[in-house]
Amino acid sequence: MVIELMTENSGAKVSKYIYGQFSEHLGTGIYGGIYVGKKSSIKNVNGMRSDVVNALKEIHLPVLRWPGGLFADTYHWQQGVGPQDKRQLIVNTNWGDVVEDNAFGTHEYFELLRQLGAEAYINANVGSGTVQEMADWVEYMTRSGKSPMADLRQKNGQREPWKLKFFGIGNESWGGGGHMRPEYYADVYRQYECFLPQNNKKHPIYRSACGPNVDDYNWTDKVVKYAGEYMDGISLHYYTLPTNDWHHKGSATNFPEGQWHSVIQKAGRMDELLTRHSTIMDKYDPEKRINLNVDEWGTWYDETPGTHEGFLQQQNTIRDAMVAAINFNIFHKHADRVKLTCIAQTVNVLQAMLLTKDDQMIKTPTYYVFDLYKNHMGANVVQGIGKTPKDLTYTASQKDNQLTISIANTSINDSNEMTFKPQMNYSKIVSSYEIVGNKMDAHNTFEEPDNIVEKEFKDVLINKDGIIKAKLAPMSVVTIVIEK
Ligand code: AHR
Repeated sequence: MVIELMTENSGAKVSKYIYGQFSEHLGTGIYGGIYVGKKSSIKNVNGMRSDVVNALKEIHLPVLRWPGGLFADTYHWQQGVGPQDKRQLIVNTNWGDVVEDNAFGTHEYFELLRQLGAEAYINANVGSGTVQEMADWVEYMTRSGKSPMADLRQKNGQREPWKLKFFGIGNESWGGGGHMRPEYYADVYRQYECFLPQNNKKHPIYRSACGPNVDDYNWTDKVVKYAGEYMDGISLHYYTLPTNDWHHKGSATNFPEGQWHSVIQKAGRMDELLTRHSTIMDKYDPEKRINLNVDEWGTWYDETPGTHEGFLQQQNTIRDAMVAAINFNIFHKHADRVKLTCIAQTVNVLQAMLLTKDDQMIKTPTYYVFDLYKNHMGANVVQGIGKTPKDLTYTASQKDNQLTISIANTSINDSNEMTFKPQMNYSKIVSSYEIVGNKMDAHNTFEEPDNIVEKEFKDVLINKDGIIKAKLAPMSVVTIVIEK
């Protein structure tokens, strides 16, 4: 079966922010994993681990959501600014019940973004904060010249305001963020949004509302109906678990074959969720002005045995790479509505890109999928016509002179072939890379960091008629970049 690639029609643009990430105050996601402090013996710049920053720069991390998650609804920003040794200790009640010293606060977050070259996505505290607290925080971050909060920021060492691109009002307000009903949340959202300072007319702050939990379609309906005119985007949270039991989710490694298949199938459910939520949004927003942003997604397994309870530490295998590829392919399909997503989470937590242990750092299979897909950022989706062969999932996009095709083969045992015929003639392979697992839970460890790395993918040919044939190994993800 040949897939015809409709390269003559330009599909929606793949927003680069689809490749965003999420870093919460959770376990060693920030402390130890990203931030070690200036005095650490681990190589750092202004307290940020250099190995981690460099690895994230390589995949062009475009946006980083912070400070939570559930943590955001207990976070009081004033406790995290000013001299570090005078900052107030807090208890992280959501994650591990540990005491934190607030050394990583607003100034450190923007310093991290500066080093990464990434945009800000801050989540306000709606659950236990106030409208005034939120308004003061935004004034603190974004106001130039003289004002109470701008003066305080300058006193704390930052003369110029920062650029705050994305701003979330509430996190899981239907659950740990306040147990609200959608009608009530819609009003709370309207109130917070009303007092959100918009000082910079050139770069208005993007307003993101708390969206539904998985398939809570009523939430989407009510929140968009009553508050849609005041938002730029609404978020969706959907995690992939091997089982349906949050108390026995399943292991990240050493799992039965059935849990390979359940994870692949459940990751694919993202398509149905985006389709149905987006259809509801169409009722109030047929022009698709409001984005549907999946600002938490990824796998969630039982925590690695022996690790601190509540730190959500898990290994990351070739199965996770499949989940990442499946999700990206779906996000591209919905690129007209989905403009931003954040995988949960960047370092050491859930489906992480990077794992650290003291001064060591390893890249996970998921990291390599982000790397394989980075050429899609800012490209236009190319629609494919034809039946996708069993166990395969793909996406294609074009930008400038280049056609980029990414494919995942989710079969555990079989090699699988895909054939494409672009309408326009693309004839020169510019690059072609793959990652491959040799067993279902193939992964990298601190002892063996290179079990899974990107290698050149050789099983691809373009014939004289411009037909592209690729043969994928079992459990592999490939990206092929072709020029005219
Ligand atoms: O990513 C971990 C947690 O998952 C987040 O804090 C919360 O928003 C979600 O329930």
